[in-house]
Amino acid sequence: MDYLPNYLPEPYRIRVVEPVKRTTEQEREKYLLEAGYNPFLLDSDKVYIDLLTDSGTGSVTQAMQSAMLRGDEAYSGSRSYHELSRAVKDIFGYQFTIPTHQGRGAEQLYVPALINKRERESGLDRDKMTAISNYFFDTTQGHTQHNRCRVLNVSTPEAFNTEVVSDFKGNFDLEALALAIEEVGPSNVPYIVSTITCNSAGGQPVSIANLRSVYELAQYYGIPVVMDCARFAENAYFVKQREKEFANWSIQEITSEAFKYADIFSMSAKKDALVPIGGLLAFKDDSLLDVQLECKTLCVLLEGFPTYGGLEGGAMERLAVGLYEGMNEDWLASRVQQIEYLVSGLEALGIRCQQAGGHAAFIDAGALLPHIPSWQFPGHALSCELYKVAGIRGAEIGSLLQGCDMETGEQLPCPAEFLRLAIPRATYTQAHFDFIIAAFAEVKKRASSIVGLKFTYEPKVLRHFNAKLEPAL
Ligand code: F0G
Repeated sequence: MDYLPNYLPEPYRIRVVEPVKRTTEQEREKYLLEAGYNPFLLDSDKVYIDLLTDSGTGSVTQAMQSAMLRGDEAYSGSRSYHELSRAVKDIFGYQFTIPTHQGRGAEQLYVPALINKRERESGLDRDKMTAISNYFFDTTQGHTQHNRCRVLNVSTPEAFNTEVVSDFKGNFDLEALALAIEEVGPSNVPYIVSTITCNSAGGQPVSIANLRSVYELAQYYGIPVVMDCARFAENAYFVKQREKEFANWSIQEITSEAFKYADIFSMSAKKDALVPIGGLLAFKDDSLLDVQLECKTLCVLLEGFPTYGGLEGGAMERLAVGLYEGMNEDWLASRVQQIEYLVSGLEALGIRCQQAGGHAAFIDAGALLPHIPSWQFPGHALSCELYKVAGIRGAEIGSLLQGCDMETGEQLPCPAEFLRLAIPRATYTQAHFDFIIAAFAEVKKRASSIVGLKFTYEPKVLRHFNAKLEPAL
């Protein structure tokens, strides 16, 4: 072939489309005011390109849609449940599966069950316990704290430095992990969470070598490891690209290797498993049988009977197919290159970003808007300006999301002020990416006149979802 563009053409055909509407800047100013300067509170028909999240917002495949028709809606022991647990065994090697309505549905089962087990066996008080992660996703952190256990992140030192390029910025700092376990005391650590890819650090991957070392350390201290694996396929894709040993392995082979290094996995299936709704909790074997049983009981209370969790039969069939479809290497490559294209386009404008990772571009709003202090939320101010300029919706991953200390009410320190532009799978085309870059050229021109924001209403927990703000003039 003679001619190749500087991007990968989309490796799929689009057969079902959803209309979107462009609005004027004047209209968007009004919508933003009505939404209390919080893009979370905008109606989707007021948004032209929606990059709030890649969770349940991407395209589904023909094979997934048709699988829904096979749904067995029996209340217990349905064929669709067995189909789903067969796929989980085949891909991940985990023997027991509980479907849930989404990722946090799995968290509300395993978090209390593991903390209860620790309390039961050690006789220690949960208020003294600390769970550890490379970086807790906010709902995982929320569930842990809600169960009166503290959280600690031990990310690699370069994780949040946008000037450093490194293959596995999602890794645990192994020394910090070992030190933390010793300091807290191993019996005060109810679990370790390996988050792949590491969402909060900018969708950065974790190497198999790092996962293996974490697991060896955890086994030495008798601490269970939970894989928080919303973006398991993307992590495997980066491992294949960057960890020499695995260069010739398939995505499925790398995935099954990665999952040897945990005891339980908790998955938001709305990401790499491509479904609009769904989650999974799975156990590698019977070594944590008491936890498994408690999760089943909690599932009946909170999600539904353990052979359907929060899902209808058709949705379990769709998920069983989506787990395989999400590992399609051409599709993984396509999305990663969309993110690389976007990041390099923004950097060419002089806008600093976290190195391209999976699922999103993370813009260093702190660097672009140095005149806005962290307590006036530069990432959020940038998000509002981007919406005003072009109708594009992103999400702040910074001090606003980080929140306050529950006891003192003080703002928690935040390692970076990012604006995340999450890329729904197979949803936007090359022209959209050029449009986003053009919008940023305009935003950059206005940068020095963008002002920070202050609360008019500040919810106590997970405040970024429902907060209302106004310009801090
Ligand atoms: N863990 C990780 C790493 C996640 O990214 C998410 C969700 C969850 C757990 C919770 O799963 O939403 O299905 O209940 N992340 C979404 C995001 C919301 O936008 O990154 P859920």
